[in-house]
Amino acid sequence: MSKSTNRQAVTRRSDAGKTKFWYRLAYLLIIIGVMSMTAYAAAPYPDVPKGKGDQCVEDTEFMRANHMELLLHQRDETMHRGIRTKKHSLKNCMECHVVTDESNRPVSAENPKHFCRVCHDYAAVSIDCFECHASKPRAKQSN
Ligand code: HEC
Ligand code: HEC
Ligand code: HEC
Repeated sequence: MSKSTNRQAVTRRSDAGKTKFWYRLAYLLIIIGVMSMTAYAAAPYPDVPKGKGDQCVEDTEFMRANHMELLLHQRDETMHRGIRTKKHSLKNCMECHVVTDESNRPVSAENPKHFCRVCHDYAAVSIDCFECHASKPRAKQSN
C-alpha cells in the first residue's frame, strides 16, 4: 500500500464516523425535543382544584396574583387594629377551597392535594399559616 491510499482509507473511515456522529446527534436532539415538549405539556401550570360557587371573593385573576397581599394585609389589620371581615378571612377561603380525599374527607395542608399547596409546591413557596390556622373547614360531624 502506498502512503496516499492509506491516507484516503483513513479519511474515508473518519468520514463514515463523522456521518454516524451527526446521525446520533440529530437523533439525540429529537429525543430531547420530544421529551421537553411532553414535559411542557404536562406541567405548564399546576392543575388547581376548582373552588366552590360561581366566583371568588375577588376576581380570579386578581386572586391568582394578589391573594398573599390580601391575606397578609388582612392579618396585619386584624392583629394590629382588631378589624375582622369575614370576606377575606382564611377560614372563609378554606370553606370554598376545600379539597376532599378518596373517602370524601377534607384534606389538611399536610396533603399535597390541598388547594394552597398545589400552587405553592409547584412554585416552591412555603407558608407557616397552617401551624396556627385550620387548613380545612371544621368537620360538621365527627368521624
Ligand atoms: C403564630 C400563629 C399564627 C400564624 C403562624 C399565622 N397566624 Fe394568622 N392569625 C393568628 C391569630 C392568633 C389571629 C387572630 C385570631 C383569629 O381571628 O383567629 C390570626 C388572624 C388571621 C387572619 C384574620 C382572621 C381569619 O381567621 O382569617 C388572617 C386572614 C390570617 N391570620 C392570615 C394568616 C396567614 C396568611 C398566615 C401565614 C402567612 C398566618 N395568618 C399565620 C395566628 C397566626
Ligand atoms: C365563595 C367561595 C369562595 C371563597 C370564600 C374564596 N374563593 Fe377563591 N375561588 C373561588 C372560585 C369559584 C374561584 C374560581 C374558580 C377556580 O377555582 O378556579 C376561585 C379562585 C381562586 C384562586 C385562583 C385559582 C386558580 O385557578 O388559579 C385563588 C388563588 C383563590 N381563589 C384564593 C382564595 C383565597 C386566598 C380566599 C380567601 C381569602 C378565597 N379564595 C376565598 C371561590 C371562593
Ligand atoms: C394559583 C396558585 C396559588 C394558589 C391556589 C395559592 N397560592 Fe399562595 N402563592 C402562590 C404563589 C405563586 C406565591 C409566591 C408569589 C411571589 O413570591 O411573588 C404565593 C405566595 C403566598 C403567600 C406569601 C408567602 C411569602 O412568604 O411571601 C401566602 C401567605 C400565600 N401564598 C397564601 C396562600 C393560601 C393561604 C392559599 C390557599 C387558601 C394559597 N396561597 C393558594 C400561588 C398560589
